Order: sequence, then C-alpha cells, then structure tokens
Amino acid sequence: MNREAANISEPNLLKNQIAGTRAQNPDAREEPSAQSAEPNIKMSTKGLKVFYGDKQALFDIALDMEEKSVTALIGPSGCGKSTFLRCLNRMNDTIDGCAIDGNVTIDGQDIYDSVLDVVELRARIGMVFQKPNPFPKSIYDNVAYGPRIHGLAHNQKDLNSIVRGSLERAGLLKEVEDRLDEPGTGLSGGQQQRLCIARAIAVSPEVILMDEPCSALDPIATAHIEELIDELRTNFTIVIVTHNMQQAARVSQKTAFFHLGKLVETNTTEEIFTSPRDERTQGYITGRYG
Ligand SMILES: Nc1ncnc2c1ncn2[C@@H]1O[C@H](COP(=O)(O)OP(=O)(O)OP(=O)(O)O)[C@@H](O)[C@H]1O
Ligand SMILES: [Mg+2]
Repeated sequence: MNREAANISEPNLLKNQIAGTRAQNPDAREEPSAQSAEPNIKMSTKGLKVFYGDKQALFDIALDMEEKSVTALIGPSGCGKSTFLRCLNRMNDTIDGCAIDGNVTIDGQDIYDSVLDVVELRARIGMVFQKPNPFPKSIYDNVAYGPRIHGLAHNQKDLNSIVRGSLERAGLLKEVEDRLDEPGTGLSGGQQQRLCIARAIAVSPEVILMDEPCSALDPIATAHIEELIDELRTNFTIVIVTHNMQQAARVSQKTAFFHLGKLVETNTTEEIFTSPRDERTQGYITGRYG
C-alpha cells in the first residue's frame, strides 16, 4: 500500500489535489482562452494492433481523444470496442495471450513505456464497467478506497471531504448521505453505477473510460448517468463505448465507428450521424446491421 502511495510524486499529488478542488467547485475551472481554440489531444493511439493469440482483434488504429470532451466508440458486437478501450489503461496486460503493438499516449507520453508505473497510470485513467461492480464494502469505503491506496488524504477530515465531494459530483450524495456505512451492494443498479463513477472520480483521474455504462440500467437511471457524463466532461476526458446510437449522439462530441477490428470513420458526432462518409457507418447508424 505504502509502496503504491510512494509512487505518486509530489507534483502529481498536487495536480490531483488541484483537480479535486476543481472537481468539487466547477465554477473554479479555467475558461479556455481565445487563443487556445485548437483542441488539446489528451490521449492518442497510432498504429495500434491487438492480438489474442494468433487472432488479430485490432488493425492499425489511429485515434485522437480530445481533452475535456466525450469520445464515443460505436460499432457491431465483436468489432473491438472493449479491446480498444482496455488498451487505453493497460487493462489488456492482465489478459493471457493478448499482445499489443503500436503506440498509445497520454499527454504525449507512451503509456506502455516501461518506466511508467501501471498503478499510477490507472489512477490517472479510471474505468467504469458495463455491470456496476461495487466492492463488498460500505458506500463510504467504496469511494475512499482509491484515495486511501494512493495516499490522497492527509487525515480523516480530508478523506470525508473527498468521499462526500465525489458522491456529490456523481449525483448520489443526497440519496445516500444518511447511510454511508451501509453496503454499496445494497443500492439499486443505477445507484451502484453512480457509486462506481464516484469511486472512479475520487482519485481525480484525468481520463474516465466507460464500457457500456448504462446497458444494465433502466431509462431513468440511464438519463441520470447521461446528464452526469455531460457534467463530468467539464473536468475529465471521457471515452465511452455504447450500443445506443441516441446515447452516442446525446453525450459525445466525437464519434469513432469500428468494424471488424478496423476504425472505419471518425468525426464530430454531428457529422457521423448526419453525413457519414463510409457506407458501413451509414449502414450501422441506420440499423441495417449490427
Ligand atoms: N480475452 C479474449 N480472448 C480471445 N479473444 C478475445 C478476448 N476478448 C475479445 N476477444 C475477441 O476480440 C474481438 C473483439 O472483441 P471486443 O470484446 O473488443 O468487441 P466489442 O466491440 O467490445 O464487442 P461487444 O459490443 O459485444 O462488447 C472479438 O472477436 C472477440 O471474440
Ligand atoms: Mg465490448
């Protein structure tokens, strides 16, 4: 635990705290200056190939993901969306027989560089899964887990404020503040997913990866998460996989269409949904296949 905490360098800790303060006080965020109209690329892949054994799942993927913006990944089942998402925080490292080639960067730094600490990387790039997966712990301890591991709180008061701030940002605080000691698994599905989002943002990540975060939720809980995603993008870079075209259109600014392991087309979400260039994209978004 302490070894992991020690891996957080001072500047990073400071950055996390600043980001945390901003996260709790959205008004404090900087407005982009008129000169910086060019979007900042937060994460980028080039020539990315993934193999499971001798089967190739991704072919030369080049995609830029803009800072403080939502990028949606769409495409038929099995086209490689989850595989791509997992490359972005090295979750594929844990899959036997999975080999990766090419380049993935965050702020221009190669995330597969051997000098980079994977635990620290995953604190910078959080993930929310399809099925809400709260730990078998209290609501409080679920959210406090990351900050404790990474030594982000100096004392109990600090930790309380991170936990409450994250629950508030995830739109869950009001519903759970009088039962923080109860198990996270006792919440409804939509509440559990917001708890997982609170857990992900508690370490003030820079990027949040979401793999079909609403597919197990009812329309009301889904609407709640979609609003939350829109709100979170003021502070975080978000990459979301979704099978729901309306959802991609509602929450994202940029959309990437994958097909059979290839990135067929990427553009602003508006362009993809109003005038796709490739007939495979057109076929998919109009529901002809997939
Ligand atoms: N752990 C694994 N071992 C072997 N093959 C895998 C593994 N995970 C995925 N694949 C294969 O890689 C390809 C891409 O899978 P992936 O899960 O990335 O697709 P997806 O676009 O996320 O699909 P879905 O929409 O169904 O979630 C598929 O052919 C899949 O069978
Ligand atoms: Mg998937």
